[in-house]
Amino acid sequence: MQRVVRFFPVVFGFLFLAATSQANSTAEAQQNSGCVRLDRVTASRATSNGIEIRSGAAVMRITALRDDVLRVRVGQAGELPEDASWAVLPASRTATVAATPESSDSAVGFKTAKLRVSVQRNPLAITVTDLDGHVIADQLPGRPIEYHGDAFRAYFKSPQDEHYFALGDKPGPLDRRNEAFVDWNTDAFGWQESTDPIYKSIPFFITFHKGVSAGIFLDNTWRASFDFNKEYRDGYSFGSPGGPLDYYILYGPAPKAVVESWAWLVGTTPLPPLWSLGYQQSRYSYYPEAEVRRIGARLRSERIPADVIWLDIDYQLSNRPFTVDPQRFPHFEQMIKDLKAEHLHTVVITDLHIAHLPNAGYKPYDEGTAGDHFVKNPDGSTYVGSVWPGPAVFPDFTQQASREWWGTLYADFVSKGVAGFWNDMNEPAVFGVASKTMPDDVQHRIDGSGFAARTASHLEIHNVFGMQNSRGTFDGLRKLSPDTRPFVMTRASYAGGQRYAATWTGDNSSTWNHFRQTTPQLLNLGLSGFAMSGADVGGFAGSPQSELLTRWLEVAAFHPIDRDHTAVGTAPQEPWENGTKKDVDLRRRYIEERYRLMPYIYTTTEEMSRTGLPIMRPLFLEFPTDVNGEPFDLSDSNSFLLGPDLLVAQSPYPDETDDYSVALPPVGWYDYWSGAEVDGHAGRKAIDNTAIKQQEVHIHPTIDTVPVFVRAGAIVPEQPLVQSTEQKPDGPLTLRVYPPIKPGDDCHGSLYLDDGVSYAFQKGDFLRVAFTCSVTAHGLTLTVAPRQGSFVPWWNQLSIEVYGQGKAAKSASASAAGASDGARPISARFDAEHHRITAVIPDDGKGLEMQLAY
Ligand code: NOJ
Repeated sequence: MQRVVRFFPVVFGFLFLAATSQANSTAEAQQNSGCVRLDRVTASRATSNGIEIRSGAAVMRITALRDDVLRVRVGQAGELPEDASWAVLPASRTATVAATPESSDSAVGFKTAKLRVSVQRNPLAITVTDLDGHVIADQLPGRPIEYHGDAFRAYFKSPQDEHYFALGDKPGPLDRRNEAFVDWNTDAFGWQESTDPIYKSIPFFITFHKGVSAGIFLDNTWRASFDFNKEYRDGYSFGSPGGPLDYYILYGPAPKAVVESWAWLVGTTPLPPLWSLGYQQSRYSYYPEAEVRRIGARLRSERIPADVIWLDIDYQLSNRPFTVDPQRFPHFEQMIKDLKAEHLHTVVITDLHIAHLPNAGYKPYDEGTAGDHFVKNPDGSTYVGSVWPGPAVFPDFTQQASREWWGTLYADFVSKGVAGFWNDMNEPAVFGVASKTMPDDVQHRIDGSGFAARTASHLEIHNVFGMQNSRGTFDGLRKLSPDTRPFVMTRASYAGGQRYAATWTGDNSSTWNHFRQTTPQLLNLGLSGFAMSGADVGGFAGSPQSELLTRWLEVAAFHPIDRDHTAVGTAPQEPWENGTKKDVDLRRRYIEERYRLMPYIYTTTEEMSRTGLPIMRPLFLEFPTDVNGEPFDLSDSNSFLLGPDLLVAQSPYPDETDDYSVALPPVGWYDYWSGAEVDGHAGRKAIDNTAIKQQEVHIHPTIDTVPVFVRAGAIVPEQPLVQSTEQKPDGPLTLRVYPPIKPGDDCHGSLYLDDGVSYAFQKGDFLRVAFTCSVTAHGLTLTVAPRQGSFVPWWNQLSIEVYGQGKAAKSASASAAGASDGARPISARFDAEHHRITAVIPDDGKGLEMQLAY
């Protein structure tokens, strides 16, 4: 980030002048205009972990939760906002680290082991830097924070070459610069690239400036808004019409460190069941029972590997949640069992709107009424809104007792073997009203998470309603089946909602532009914490052209969730529909590749569940700067990484037939399909870093090939093809070794495995293996470390494939790990077409070494 400058930069002049002249205005004038501005420090007090500032009647407390994480809370009338959060984990919210106070005539502040906070006295300005002087956050002098009634806004300077990311599922480019957004969870059927808001509110964004990153989280559930360089070209701001001014600043400097700190603050997606990473087949709706069975049978007869079939609203009786239509599904339980026997899991939709059916024997309504679990109008009557079942009532999910009751509703489905649950329409969507949701004044009861028990208006609760719905579902499933990892998918959510549910991008369209949108949307969702996410493959609204469906199914094989879903009334969209034999073969081939890659995908997912690093990653997350320390080119926004090592170089405009070029980060790459080292040429910037040039590859797009590249120095585990993640692979574990370009460079990979469904992994029943390799001018050594954990895998052999090879090895040998006595010769096969040398060797789990001499 930019160095702290003593002289104010010209580019910010206009904003600055406006702000400082305002700063001289008196408090009286402010009051007359209804505006309260924290324009100068009138008192300050050091605290053990930060500082408390007074500016007239207003109070601001800045505290260090960690050396690299700050929290800022402000109250305009002298009282800090309630110390509570739906998003922030209690242990993180209350974390504290000692701060060293600093004071001079012109400024007060403090420092930690990583950050310095400096608050200029007059005009009041807050600057956060790291200890090298890189600016992390720089609030506008004299106008850092402004109130108009309950509404507030915080203003920050923005260097011209700073970029902004995350903010959840909001459509548009990956970089949020030059855009403005509102957080208000909305049922946005028909949304387009410029539509805002849509389903989720994640008021967290990542700043990125010359390779240095920070995160900012405004923990405010109201209708908050964010403006990046739209109102002020040289500034960004955020604010809200009500609720707390309570924000966090997370220092990187690496973008990965910001993402990991974000996970520390609000939690990660827990390890999902393995089957949820398989291919999933859905539509609105498969019914009757025979149709569901037909789809299941066809997936198997077409040999499309698959793990899940989804039941949308039409399986229910008159759209009433937690019912099954007995006419359409006379043998519901048996159907689920039969699908399970084919290794197909069933996910069912369970919307939150409970049909308003007094005296009709409808259990969710009767129990919910008896337990006083529904949201109320200001006059104390139950709020009724119209959704799929007609008039409906809505559980008061912010109340713990109501969430617990909601969780019990799943007992019947769980006992019948339903594997996963879909919480849709939970913005909440309401039909027939212009607002598409509940009135602003309905009353929600809240408790827990640090909140005093009280009622709150819908304005405060709207954006967390869906999150608390999925929380009730997740917690309920944990109780009903304590040793089974739940799979819940939610449409609406708030920051931290990934603790309870996966998500998807809602009602997209079957258009090329929506296909293109999936990349930035899923990347920003991942950076926001929602790493388990997908888009309706093939598009929801409308029917795709066959080529679009093919290409979408191809690319989605590299997405975290791969679920084909479409709207009522559209053409059939399963992989075998709407295409030539070639289309179907291609679609199958890519889904098959996903299943071959499953050990790598699951390993990446397990890492995500521990660290928060997303499964699908923007390039700058792995490669923040190029060889010259400049920011890595952010313009190729349709390329992404699956895990750390696979780069999917999708066309920036997938409907165009033009060739395109992709600048690969300067670490060396291999073509995933041919196994050849990529022969790029000096990139746009012609960076020559002695051995490795930034590689620019030219791609001629064809429907046959999604360009995928593998980072040099990667070891990628793969498995033999299976038809579902439950099927035991038959054969060796494959280790695809992509040698580093230069001797001495890092080369590693890892594998994580467990039973895929239970929590036994928490008690040591998992498998973890580390792989490393090293190259010399004359050969390669691969080391497989001894296995950790008690889980026993399916294989007893390793198929080691070393890529980028132009000729057969002179010799190959293997030895037990650390064995001093000689290696035994092994046979190694050369495959010119795939540029690889393959050796198959026994693996007893105790570790081994393999040498190839070229
Ligand atoms: C809206 C959801 O976004 C969509 O995926 C679903 O098919 C319909 N509701 C019907 O349940």
